[in-house]
Amino acid sequence: MATPQVSRDGNAQRSRPLIDIQNLSKTYVTASSGNVHALNKVDLTIAEGEFVCVVGPSGCGKSTLLRMLAGLDTYDAGKLSLDDQAVTGPSGKVGGVFQAANLLPWLSVRENVRLPLRVGGRHDAADQRIDGLLEMTGLGELGARYPYELSGGMQQRAGICRALARDPQILLMDEPFGALDALTRERMNIELQRIWQTHRKTIMLITHSISEAIFPSYAKLASEIRGLLNAQEGASND
Ligand SMILES: Nc1ncnc2c1ncn2[C@@H]1O[C@H](COP(=O)(O)OP(=O)(O)OP(=O)(O)O)[C@@H](O)[C@H]1O
Ligand SMILES: [Mg+2]
Repeated sequence: MATPQVSRDGNAQRSRPLIDIQNLSKTYVTASSGNVHALNKVDLTIAEGEFVCVVGPSGCGKSTLLRMLAGLDTYDAGKLSLDDQAVTGPSGKVGGVFQAANLLPWLSVRENVRLPLRVGGRHDAADQRIDGLLEMTGLGELGARYPYELSGGMQQRAGICRALARDPQILLMDEPFGALDALTRERMNIELQRIWQTHRKTIMLITHSISEAIFPSYAKLASEIRGLLNAQEGASND
């Protein structure tokens, strides 16, 4: 059975394990195919501030793992904890972007993005925050539209805004850019790097794209090289 493979950013702070997965197993009992072993004894530790990409063939259990981390699915055996607390349900510390955007069809884009803030009782500077997120994902003009009036890629971008609305400590993303065109995808990857580096979030990104999986290490290396060049330039100008 194939298992999800992990690619980490090259220089993560190994401060403390924020996500701790040990011996995690999950079997679905189905009427059509009997027992489906979705995950078998998976171990994974993710430190606070780390950017981890998960790759693997279709059906190897990537989405199952992410749903369990988001508290949306149960596990049969093993240990799964966030910040030393066993995962028993959804947590405000976690924002999730899933393979399907799952926007509420009766709410506008803006109200879909606002939803986690309303649920969390947060109304402080909400409009400003929502505007910023919509702008960042190229949806600045589309806040009043309803999900059925958006393309698949636009819906996915609205889902990304919704996941970021509460400024979660942990961001779980299941092929979030799959429905986007190449240019928007690259822009969103760069934006995700910026969010990670600026706000030191812990990010787990599931992707089928190898280049996307190595992007965090590449982006980090590029920014370190830029820093070195700037430092050298500064020194030679002294
Ligand atoms: N609710 C469910 N009921 C029964 N089987 C399921 C259920 N969800 C997932 N599975 C099975 O568990 C296995 C892992 O599914 P999962 O969705 O985690 O794969 P994945 O790695 O995310 O695949 P993909 O790359 O295609 O998204 C598959 O064999 C799938 O058929
Ligand atoms: Mg999946």
